[in-house]
Amino acid sequence: MLALGCDHGGYALMQEVKKHLDQRGIAYQDFGCYSEEAVDYPVYAKKVGKAIQDGSCDKGILICGTGIGISITANKMKGIRAALCTDCFCAEATRLHNDANVLAMGGRVLGTGLALKIVDTFLDTPFSGDDRHKRRIAMIEG
Ligand code: RB5
Repeated sequence: MLALGCDHGGYALMQEVKKHLDQRGIAYQDFGCYSEEAVDYPVYAKKVGKAIQDGSCDKGILICGTGIGISITANKMKGIRAALCTDCFCAEATRLHNDANVLAMGGRVLGTGLALKIVDTFLDTPFSGDDRHKRRIAMIEG
């Protein structure tokens, strides 16, 4: 199950992401926000982070205007590895190397076409499982 969260700056792109996930038959839980009315991005980052921490979701997508505030917040939570991606190379590498469990994007930064390719790359790339990457990920929390 995928956890989704955004603020008003990410709301429009999140609607496109949801349509795309529906087309792909990927299940998600939408933690809001639910309109373009101004809200505080940490609220939604924390809802998504908690859903991953409690095991009800295994990955998440967070979108704010830049992707920065929402990823900074998520990365303060234990076990959350949020990767702010602006291209498919980084989306692939962060799954292979960092086993990132949250994709963060900027709704005011990316066009829809690129954002959806980034989503697909992130969701379709497995963690490499290489020992060196496991060691480094363990060191993040240690
Ligand atoms: C909201 O105006 C904006 O600050 C927010 O979406 C995000 O870009 C923060 O990092």
